Amino acid sequence: MKIAVLTGAGISAESGLKTFRDSNGLWEGHNVMDVASPEGFAKDPTLVLEFYNQRRRQLLQVQPNAAHKAIAELEKKHEVVVVTQNVDDLHERAGSTRVIHLHGELLKVRSTGREDIILDWSEDLMPGDFCKNGFQLRPHIVWFGEAVPMIDPAMDVVQASDIVMIVGTSMQVYPAAGLLQFANPASPVFFVDPNPSITYSERVYVFAEKATTGVPKAIEYINSIR
Ligand code: APR
Repeated sequence: MKIAVLTGAGISAESGLKTFRDSNGLWEGHNVMDVASPEGFAKDPTLVLEFYNQRRRQLLQVQPNAAHKAIAELEKKHEVVVVTQNVDDLHERAGSTRVIHLHGELLKVRSTGREDIILDWSEDLMPGDFCKNGFQLRPHIVWFGEAVPMIDPAMDVVQASDIVMIVGTSMQVYPAAGLLQFANPASPVFFVDPNPSITYSERVYVFAEKATTGVPKAIEYINSIR
């Protein structure tokens, strides 16, 4: 069975990483546009780099949880591709081998002058850290207002899937939020979120609970009907 697993910040919440929309539009005390837009970076690069340095340090201290692990385990029985809006690497650390990051990756940086120069990066990134061509490095993150190059492979994955599982996302941010419309109308959808943004219908099974308990239940259900 081909399973597309779409995940958002909620799947990493129980690992200790905060979701975005719980704090009045602020993200760790910052206006989101100040720290996650090209304009914000142009205005105050030091602030933006330090913000992502903090996120990177925090990520290195947390671990994948039972939901990430259950999704990795699913590869033993099914053809699974994870399409995540998260910039953390918790799916990979849990053992998932096919992960599409729609919004970039915190443990990578790229050149501001040459988009194809992308480097692994687990330390702090500072003003004056240049690529080999002499351009400042920036977080490899898709900021608000930027293109989402991985959306095309993600659409293909959703379109080709027999089952879609969605975990921990408010489904508010496009183009990720539109992915479900590419699914085969006959494919069942399993939605795990304590505050689900889509409701029950004939083909949608909602588990209105946290990822660490809801994902194993959804998987048990998937395995029982197939
Ligand atoms: N388990 C599962 N879901 C949870 C949990 C949990 N323990 N805790 C919270 N949630 C759910 C919330 O109910 C909400 O629906 O996670 C979702 C988080 O929503 P958002 O904060 O909007 O995160 P997400 O949907 O990933 O945001 C998309 O927005 O800020 C940008 O680029 C950023 O990738 C991010 C994008």
